[in-house]
Amino acid sequence: MDAKTAAARESLRVVVTGHVDHGKSTVVGRLLADTGALPKGKLERVRAYCERHGKPFEYAFLLDALKDEQAQGITIESSRIFFKSARRDYVLVDAPGHVEFIKNMISGATQASAALLVLDAKEGVQENSRRHGYLLSMLGARRIAVLVNKMDLVDWREDAFKRLAAEYGAFLERIGARAERFIPVSGLHGDNLAAPSARMPWYRGPTALAALDAFAPEPSLAARPFRMPVQGVYQFDGDARRVVAGTVESGTLAAGDEAVFYPSGKTGVVRSIEEFPRPPKGGRVFAGSATGFSLVQPVYVRRGEIAARRGEKPPAVAARFRARLVWLGRAPLSPRKDYVLKLGTARVGVRLESVARALDASSLKADRRATSVARHEVADCVLRTAGVIAFDPVEENAACGRFVIVDGFDVCGGGLIQEALPDASSLRHEKVLARNLKWQESAISPEKREARYGQKAALVLITGARGSRRKEAAKELEARLFAAGRHVYFLGIGSALYGVNADLRAAGDHVEDIRRVAEVAHILMDSGLVLIVSASELTEEDLVLFRSAIDPDRIETFWVGSPPAGLKGKVVAVPGKTGPAVAAMRKRLADRGFYP
Ligand code: GTP
Ligand code: MG
Repeated sequence: MDAKTAAARESLRVVVTGHVDHGKSTVVGRLLADTGALPKGKLERVRAYCERHGKPFEYAFLLDALKDEQAQGITIESSRIFFKSARRDYVLVDAPGHVEFIKNMISGATQASAALLVLDAKEGVQENSRRHGYLLSMLGARRIAVLVNKMDLVDWREDAFKRLAAEYGAFLERIGARAERFIPVSGLHGDNLAAPSARMPWYRGPTALAALDAFAPEPSLAARPFRMPVQGVYQFDGDARRVVAGTVESGTLAAGDEAVFYPSGKTGVVRSIEEFPRPPKGGRVFAGSATGFSLVQPVYVRRGEIAARRGEKPPAVAARFRARLVWLGRAPLSPRKDYVLKLGTARVGVRLESVARALDASSLKADRRATSVARHEVADCVLRTAGVIAFDPVEENAACGRFVIVDGFDVCGGGLIQEALPDASSLRHEKVLARNLKWQESAISPEKREARYGQKAALVLITGARGSRRKEAAKELEARLFAAGRHVYFLGIGSALYGVNADLRAAGDHVEDIRRVAEVAHILMDSGLVLIVSASELTEEDLVLFRSAIDPDRIETFWVGSPPAGLKGKVVAVPGKTGPAVAAMRKRLADRGFYP
């Protein structure tokens, strides 16, 4: 199957949005009913059910009634509704509230590039009509049709329709958006949805269905660079293969291609596509498929990385970027608070660095001196993540350029990345990337070394206040592990500072000092060692430096004595006395599975 046949039947994702009760669900239910998309007898059954329970029938009920059902090519899951017209397949997203709406617009699964905006003819333009219009334009929906619904409530009058269309059209223009169509409809009576209305002869434009069919198709994702956010790496019993799994967002990949993972920069040649229950036709995976692949030589990659393909444009890797976001949290987005950013499968701490402009999405009142972002505001701002992440500017690849921001358990906002910005950690990371891209694989795989040595390579950082017994504890740990048959090495930080780092002594470049020690550690760990490094008073920044050069899953950090408040939860505290400290460390390392 080549790219063309894979996309033979076109599909379009359409979000249905608008103010509460303006008739979104009714319009969708009616469209399904009138296009023959409903399972046989469904409409009758829902009507009968309503009658039995003395409830007036609502087309909106059809959506709930269909939720558990999969029949005749129509399925509903959460709020996604699949249906077909003669022209193409549709995924309609009935987005009830704000948060749902934002989540749907941003989560790769239901990115909509087209939208139906439902307006109540009688109630007119409301706060959320404006807000959603703004969000749609901001989130990149280029094809918008406005359905002026409930025309029965304004006696099917042309002047009422025209007035509303003019008012809302002017609003869209102010925000730089445009509706392709304004269509007078009635969800309740079915006018101008699937069939033209006899009650509004003055309207000669297309029905809602015809307007959907007239939307230009979504640009092909297969032609873009390959992107697959890594969901996880799985190993199956009795099988040496490690399968890198995820959902392909764009591009294509086949056996023999070289995959490059970002931000780590690790690479590997694809051995085979491992799709369940059977491999894809032609052995090639395309955008939209949940898939997996194995590599000729296993590499350690983590959930949250983005798989790309050598020879194509790589994603950006940075810890600072310019973004446009919308905020929904009750408390404003504040530069003094830590949040979590989710992009693709990555999760990383994030902070607001600065706000260029904040704008109320309904009133369009702008605040150029804002330092935080209030609820329902849209802002152009700079965000900083706790470590580097991989992404694409949204112009280049929307799927890897959208993010949500989580506060505690709640999605509080989301947005689009416009461009990567330079900062110290991205510059440092460039070195790690280059090292990984140029890395010469040893002929002996890490697995083979692990099997031979009976241990996983690890970096054990032992730190503590000046005057604490960290060095004694480190050497004692080394001796104990060695006696137990482990391949272990103690590296006092001074051994590096006055050797590999000798040229830095005069300048006192602390960051470069740590970077080099981390690189030395990286090489020793590649040889399969458990490496013990002692250094006094490592800071959180130092730990970030180690983590950016070395797989964080392979690092354990101990603080001998009681750690400062800022490091609590980030290091493992062990007793100040050497004997108990060593016992605690040995137990912890074994618990983490570094050795049996
Ligand atoms: P939320 O999901 O709660 O935001 O509402 P919604 O936008 O999905 O609205 P829904 O489809 O549930 O409709 C709200 C009410 O408007 C229901 O009672 C519908 O019967 C009614 N309604 C929808 N379309 C029409 C219409 O064309 N004419 C009239 N008279 N009522 C309508
Ligand atoms: Mg609804």
